[in-house]
Amino acid sequence: MMQSQLPSSPASERNKQPILEVLHSWLGPTGQALEIASGTGQHIVHFAQSLPGWHWQPSDLDNSLFEAIRQRSAQAGLDRIFPPVLLDVRAPHWELPGPVAPVEADPQADPDTPAVPQFDLIYCANMLHIAPWECCAGLMQGAARHLAQDGLLVTYGPYLEDAIPTAPSNLAFDADLRRRDPDWGIRQLADVAREAEAAGLQLQQRVTMPANNLLLAFARQAPG
Ligand SMILES: C[S@@+](CC[C@H](N)C(=O)[O-])C[C@H]1O[C@@H](n2cnc3c(N)ncnc32)[C@H](O)[C@@H]1O
Repeated sequence: MMQSQLPSSPASERNKQPILEVLHSWLGPTGQALEIASGTGQHIVHFAQSLPGWHWQPSDLDNSLFEAIRQRSAQAGLDRIFPPVLLDVRAPHWELPGPVAPVEADPQADPDTPAVPQFDLIYCANMLHIAPWECCAGLMQGAARHLAQDGLLVTYGPYLEDAIPTAPSNLAFDADLRRRDPDWGIRQLADVAREAEAAGLQLQQRVTMPANNLLLAFARQAPG
């Protein structure tokens, strides 16, 4: 399959570079990343090409685009993108391959609790509004289980904010989403931040992006 024949999202093509530019300012030179809801794989391949010290694990609830992710990674010559894995964020345990922090690195760790893979970045674009609301809690709780101590959960997409008038295009998009599926819809940023806090994460960065989207970064709440 040629790259030009691979399923492709025009929006991902437009927003991948602006997102990457912010990621460059947030991320260190090396790390392990998990992408949730990878879709066509356009984001993960673009990011991996420009962040050579990072390893990337794609995932999605739907495996119908896994071949496209594999093809895009192979055509870009990127063996730092691992084969995609099935992952529903609502699952109480995320079955993931990946780097496990050594138990001795954490003196508080219970030796009887199995270690879980830890990631320096968990990245999720354009899922929260195209999935039922409980996916937000699933994402936050899973990220809290799988983020490394100083890791970041980064989400991208449109959000509603009380203090900021919603762009007419986002209102129309929201109405269209709800018509397609009553469980979908653009989320209130305050509700998303509340789910994050319930899981032990805190909204730390909010960056306005083109086309009325936001790039958000959540990190573990400081102890105490
Ligand atoms: C609009 S696409 C976004 C794809 C890609 N992240 C992007 O920005 O181009 C939404 C993705 O969310 C995935 N998704 C929906 N519900 C999910 C869930 N419960 N767990 C994981 N992924 C989910 C869908 O399968 C789909 O690939």
